[in-house]
Amino acid sequence: MISETLRQAREFEEKYLPYALPEQPKFHVTGGVGWINDPNGFAPYKNEYHLFFQYYPYDTKWGPMHWGHVKTKDFIRWEHLPCAMAPDQEYDRDGCFSGSAVELPDGRHLLMYTGVRSVRSEDGKLEDFQRQCIAIGDGIDYEKIEANPVIDASLLPEGGSEHDFRDPKIWMEDGIFYAVIGNRTPDDSGAILLYKSEDAVKWEFVSFLSSCHNQYGKMWECPDFFELDGKHVLLTSPQDMTAIGLEFHPGNANIYILGSFDKRARHLKRQLVKAIDYGMDFYAPQTLLTEDNRRVMIAWMQNWETATCKLKELHFFGQMTLPRELSIRKGLLCQNPVRELEAYRGVRIDYQNVLINGEASLRGISGRCLDMTVTIRPGNENSLYKWFRLYVAQDGEHYTFIRIRPDTGTVKVDRTHSGFPHDIVNVREFPANLTDGILKMRIILDTYSMEIFINDGEQAASFVLYTPIEASAIKFSSDGSVLVDVEKYELVVEQ
Ligand code: FRU
Repeated sequence: MISETLRQAREFEEKYLPYALPEQPKFHVTGGVGWINDPNGFAPYKNEYHLFFQYYPYDTKWGPMHWGHVKTKDFIRWEHLPCAMAPDQEYDRDGCFSGSAVELPDGRHLLMYTGVRSVRSEDGKLEDFQRQCIAIGDGIDYEKIEANPVIDASLLPEGGSEHDFRDPKIWMEDGIFYAVIGNRTPDDSGAILLYKSEDAVKWEFVSFLSSCHNQYGKMWECPDFFELDGKHVLLTSPQDMTAIGLEFHPGNANIYILGSFDKRARHLKRQLVKAIDYGMDFYAPQTLLTEDNRRVMIAWMQNWETATCKLKELHFFGQMTLPRELSIRKGLLCQNPVRELEAYRGVRIDYQNVLINGEASLRGISGRCLDMTVTIRPGNENSLYKWFRLYVAQDGEHYTFIRIRPDTGTVKVDRTHSGFPHDIVNVREFPANLTDGILKMRIILDTYSMEIFINDGEQAASFVLYTPIEASAIKFSSDGSVLVDVEKYELVVEQ
């Protein structure tokens, strides 16, 4: 049975999607119409990959959260499906917050999410009550179960907050359901709690998988936990982070923790904590495991701090990153665009050993929907170049540049002149391996975004660009002599 609230959302989509579709990026997921934030329920289902997302169809700003829905066979071409859930029950009347999905052994599709009720307290403040809920469906329509909410305050460890208790990531292992959930702890920071259940209805608290202790931001949102190349990996998005060197940026940040899982204590022993993505627009990543055993991650390509900066003429706001394959190399969590993207490569243009000393542009190297790899090395044996810059999305007025500096071993991205309509920080700098002045970067451009993958994915950085689409020049510039190889493909994707 479809509620009135859900029916309205579906009717709205049907009416306005045709207006919004021509404005969309070519292969990055958006809601079609309206606002989106976190990816939800990113999981295989009946030989396809489904993706839901935090969604408010009626406006390009955050509102009572619904779950929007798309699916794909190859992570590049996506089909919009009708809105999957609306806030239509007493226990989720103020929002169906983030969550996840699994395919049940009997073929049904289970969604686990946070139901939110906001209640005005005696001192007049609105307070959220957050509890975990289940909906079950067939890939299009979902029924919220009678037993909801299935995890409430009674299942919190001592001192855990029922006001910040959200974003369950569920998985199945040996016939048992597990879920990791973000929670605020009595020290006012966050922790990731581990739960288990035999039927996804009756749950028990297992352990604190990992706790923040005010070290990496405050409340930890949107956890994901999995095994990869012999390590255990926890992804989470901390709120209120202060920058630590060039590693973590302030505000709503993102971290990965690599470690080993202590099976007895059910606790993750930390070995390394780093940023997942060093760009300005990356939050709330979620992963799935493909049939051929690849761990693929997708994230909201946006940042809460700049979520009011938007192009007024567009019917949608917010997009997802390109899905990325994860691996552990040289002790780091590395990420590269899904290999399926290569099937969409069109005309290839290649340059080798181009000597750049000053400014240069190369015939055929331009565009706003492309896959380009640039390899940089010193052009002079006796003196190392000082810096190298790559300008993209350029016209007489606009540009964004990526600058590398071998002396500091850093990559800096500056989108100050990209056409951003607000005065906010538009520069980000991060460390990269630039030994001997050599660096390889792969750049994916699609309409309103740029994603950068350094040295085969040792670092990634994602940026929204609100530059007019006609600004498509690409330029090279250096202080000192640099040798450059360029391999550029236009990307041709018809949705
Ligand atoms: C993260 C987040 C989640 C929450 C959702 C609400 O971006 O704050 O913690 O479930 O957004 O839309």
